[in-house]
Amino acid sequence: MGSFCLPSIITYLSNATMSKNKDGLHALSKAVRIQTPRTWQMEHSTPLYLTSSFTFEQAEEMKGAFADENDENIYSRFSNPNTDEFVEKMCALEGAEAGFATATGMAAVFSSIFALLKQGDHLLCCSSVFGSTFTIVTKYLPKYGIEATLVAANDKDAWEQAIRPNTKMIYLETPTNPQLELIDLEWAGQLAKKHQLILNVDNCFATPLLQQPINYGAHLVVHSATKWIDGQGRVLGGVIVGDAALVKEIYLFCRNTGPSLSAFNAWVLSKSLETLDVRMQRHCENALKVAQALEKNEHVSWVKYPFLQSHPQYGIAIKQMKSGGGILCFEIKGGVEAGRKFLNNLNMLSMTANLGDTRSIASHPASTTHSKLSEAERLAVGITPGLIRISAGLEHVDDIIRDIEQALEKSK
Ligand SMILES: Cc1ncc(COP(=O)(O)O)c(C=O)c1O
Repeated sequence: MGSFCLPSIITYLSNATMSKNKDGLHALSKAVRIQTPRTWQMEHSTPLYLTSSFTFEQAEEMKGAFADENDENIYSRFSNPNTDEFVEKMCALEGAEAGFATATGMAAVFSSIFALLKQGDHLLCCSSVFGSTFTIVTKYLPKYGIEATLVAANDKDAWEQAIRPNTKMIYLETPTNPQLELIDLEWAGQLAKKHQLILNVDNCFATPLLQQPINYGAHLVVHSATKWIDGQGRVLGGVIVGDAALVKEIYLFCRNTGPSLSAFNAWVLSKSLETLDVRMQRHCENALKVAQALEKNEHVSWVKYPFLQSHPQYGIAIKQMKSGGGILCFEIKGGVEAGRKFLNNLNMLSMTANLGDTRSIASHPASTTHSKLSEAERLAVGITPGLIRISAGLEHVDDIIRDIEQALEKSK
């Protein structure tokens, strides 16, 4: 079995080795029930396969595994039962043919681009992507002779005008981190189809529970599993799912370059998927209530949340997302200094460089992650002086709101 799950391999898993056939189940049930074959111990929960490599009884069998004539596990950089299980669940949730799990979200982003593009190719990318993705696109792609054009998320004409004969891929994030801009996936799918481009979507903020880019024509979906998928701030992980032929290229790239997910982290993430749906429902509920409370707060000049009617792309949000997600952002009056004071006065919310946790998190990019940039540079990437990003956790929503309101009061 491979962590790169092709349809044939999935069939093999479900028909031959899974303890019960999972075909016909709803994707949500598959996220709970897909499991490695039960061992003679008859365990209920999946065991942890902490092994670097796998053994063979016969030389012919090993030869066959290396010749891709069978689906036997060879080495955990290539595949492992725990990563297989996690990938299969992700494929079920995203409606994907195949997938491969990586050590981090950035490994998924990097591999999905570098495995498929070559010198002389051109990438079209949304300008407000996550910081490290921005760095890959602007710093590392040019180093390897791959051209890239950054386009404002919602300037539809600019996207089409930027397409060149050598354009191979469209890369986007929706909602974007941290500005929460939304891109119309139906439109992006049609654009990619019209120009025969690979559409690669970072679905980290929405998760497959709220939005499934493949339904709109995306060929690849990448995730930082570190965020909502783990959901408890424990492990790093990433995953790429999508078109089987493209995923095969990515699998071969990763199998040789080595950014594979560890079995332990895969085991954690697979268990996390069993509760993702219920967790996301509460995260979204809490985020919406916090956003609504902040809209009335005198210390805040604006609030952005996909499911607030005031969001500039509210129409897109309700069209393609089941709920607004767990992240909201707002602009605190008083700029950088007020933002710094706000963080210092929080009692319960955590000040940490993560998101998508059971624990609510506040961050102020201008005084932390983006503090080395000039104000003009920050503004160019959408980081306003008082921008605060909140990742709504699973605490009682009244406690989240109370903590934010008292910190805002003291940030004047
Ligand atoms: C939208 C998005 N994509 C990718 C990543 C990178 O994920 P990781 O930290 O797991 O490498 C992040 C991290 O915050 C993110 O927010």
